[in-house]
Amino acid sequence: MEKRVFSGIKPSGNLHLGNYIGAMKQWVKSQEDGFNIFCVVDLHAITVFQDPTELKNNSYDLAAMLLAVGIDPTKSLLFVQSHNPDHANLAWILNCYLSMGQMNRMTQYKEKSEGKDTVSVGLFDYPSLMAADILLYKTTHVPVGEDQKQHVELTRDIAERINKKYGDIFVLPQASIPKVGGRIMSLSNPAKKMSKSVDDPSGTIGLLDSLDDVKKKIMSAVTDSDNKIVYDPENKPGISNLLEIYCQVSGVEMKDAQEKFSSISYGAFKTEVFESVSLFLSEIQQKFHEKRNINDLSATLEDGAKKAYAISHPILQEMYSRIGFI
Ligand code: TYM
Repeated sequence: MEKRVFSGIKPSGNLHLGNYIGAMKQWVKSQEDGFNIFCVVDLHAITVFQDPTELKNNSYDLAAMLLAVGIDPTKSLLFVQSHNPDHANLAWILNCYLSMGQMNRMTQYKEKSEGKDTVSVGLFDYPSLMAADILLYKTTHVPVGEDQKQHVELTRDIAERINKKYGDIFVLPQASIPKVGGRIMSLSNPAKKMSKSVDDPSGTIGLLDSLDDVKKKIMSAVTDSDNKIVYDPENKPGISNLLEIYCQVSGVEMKDAQEKFSSISYGAFKTEVFESVSLFLSEIQQKFHEKRNINDLSATLEDGAKKAYAISHPILQEMYSRIGFI
């Protein structure tokens, strides 16, 4: 079977280096073979409130950033989730086959709802929509960061269940998670993952941050007190995280990086990390500004949505017919 790739990112603002390393960088590489579909998942973004003007800007920003890092719309489909109604339609159907017990076991829902007074049904139902995204395109591979693994497993599970009930219709997808960089940690608290959350600005390197800010964040990253630069995520989470970031943006192998930094101080190491991150960021920020043109972006996204619909709609129709819809 041909490799078919689907993945998405929420346009919920504050795109960061974890999103790049865990997802976008893999997407770009994935374009070398198979058929690739990438999505700005705005329906997922509104599971927590989004200011309408910000949501619009963030959606264009995300599309422009994807082009800036190397997503090529002549090779891959790039579109916005709400432009293809099939996603919400299939998600509803999947809702009727997913159990409350199964959904209750989703750790990301637990994390995201913790401490909140009210939580939307959409946030609880998020994995069902994500499963619909993936299954609508007969996806074989889903390049994501570590935190999405459980959702891809749920997708396999529901696909298998529906296939058993109605005959083979869906393909069972697998998550592709990078061995190094699948979980980039916060710089200020390396026990927590780097996230879009506004609560941890000093721990998160935004893809659009100024280089001065990035320098401050990297130079004050939390490390440890033993002054050895070795990759040991369990005992040295801060240093290991910086090493992962360094390797991912510079293309240097982990073993070579450890050798290169074996006899330098933490301060000098952080300067090296900053230099490679800043080289990478200044290049993609420049490209981002070139691509951030609403007319051009709209044309690309519209074309992507038409092509996406042409693939997903027959699959949704097939599902309708097997269920017994007239
Ligand atoms: P989102 O928008 O939260 O994150 C986008 C991608 O970035 C990865 N990621 C990270 N990777 C490494 N280290 C981190 N600290 C880090 N933080 C985020 C995420 O794993 C993700 O790959 N549910 C998805 C969006 C989605 C989707 C889909 C993905 C909707 N439908 C279908 C794949 C297939 C999400 O919330 O992404």
